[in-house]
Amino acid sequence: MAANPLQGIKSIKDLAIENKRVFLRVDFNVPLDKNNPSVITDDSRIREAIPTIKHALERGARVILASHLGRPKPGKTAGLGMEPCGARLAELMSIEVHVPEDCIGDAPKKVIGDLRAGQVCLLENLRFHEEEEKDDADFAQKLASLAQDGVYVDDAFGAVHRAHASVHAIAKLFPERGCGFLLEKEIAALGKLVLGADKPYVAVLGGAKVSDKIAVIEALLGQVDALVIGGAMANTFLAAKGVRVQASRVEEDKLALARTLLEKAAEKKVEILLPVDVVVAPDLESTEGKTVRVSEIPEGTMALDIGPDTVAAFARRFATAKTIFWNGPMGMFEKKAFAGGSFGVAQAMADSNAFTVVGGGDSAAAVHAAGGDIAKKMGHISTGGGASLELIEGKKLPGIEVLRT
Ligand code: 3PG
Repeated sequence: MAANPLQGIKSIKDLAIENKRVFLRVDFNVPLDKNNPSVITDDSRIREAIPTIKHALERGARVILASHLGRPKPGKTAGLGMEPCGARLAELMSIEVHVPEDCIGDAPKKVIGDLRAGQVCLLENLRFHEEEEKDDADFAQKLASLAQDGVYVDDAFGAVHRAHASVHAIAKLFPERGCGFLLEKEIAALGKLVLGADKPYVAVLGGAKVSDKIAVIEALLGQVDALVIGGAMANTFLAAKGVRVQASRVEEDKLALARTLLEKAAEKKVEILLPVDVVVAPDLESTEGKTVRVSEIPEGTMALDIGPDTVAAFARRFATAKTIFWNGPMGMFEKKAFAGGSFGVAQAMADSNAFTVVGGGDSAAAVHAAGGDIAKKMGHISTGGGASLELIEGKKLPGIEVLRT
């Protein structure tokens, strides 16, 4: 990453978009209700794109929105059309949103040609064409032709780690390109952590698997003063230290790695905080739990959340931190009995005086589910899961690098 993470990237504010066609890549990859895919269960990503869309419309731009949704299998489109996102956007902005039946070809050309002031076109799911994920040059050209002589703006932070046609190949086809307000905000907030977080810097990692987080743990060991570990991945670290975690989920093949990471942390003088108590239950279907010390997990039970003493210990560490980054829930927060850890961590972060950043995905969902004014008190809640982790790792992301002019 450059010394200034936004160096060479024009903001939409600085692009001449007046009365031009604007190809605006957004990340409307929103969670959908499993039983009814036309229902969006969290519309944050749509809401976060609104300032950029509004800015373009106010300047008379003809806005062409493009996004992927889910991971459709070849030839299978059922339940993954963009129509529900279009309807939600129309509702939130009180505008007309037209969704053509495809993202390339005559259908979108007709819709775009007919757009009137204040209306937008939301292209059909880009991933209905396999070429999207292949970063295919011809496909990118077909998309770009919809906004000929126009401007390319990327506001899809959640997708900038993907070298896909609408994020990567297409951008090079527009001499005038840059980022929207959301992408700008994300790069600035996460870039600040990588380039010079105020110390003490504490990172909180959770979620199911150590294997998903190896690269980020290794990168963070070179940056942070303390690493706080919860969620199911903490079981593997506890087991690596010889704690009998009983039926708790442990990645047996990652025990040696966990030991190595603990040794590396000691060498680098990074403090590691693991759970001291957990909420246990017989299985994943349980709806009630019991709090026990980690050394006393009863046989036949598994840890499904961190306990209150652990939350208190984490909160004490947060109290003196100047920067806190959190990625991955502390437990099965979707169930009330196992939500205390994630909600407690969210509350403690909100109460701290540190600059707080929440990596997207489940941890962002936990912050929103925690309710109250917790979300408002966070310094930044990222809309990107994988993208925020890769940025924290210090990687160059294709969708960001291609915007530099
Ligand atoms: C995300 O949800 O992380 C982004 O939209 C990227 O989606 P993907 O992981 O399916 O590429």
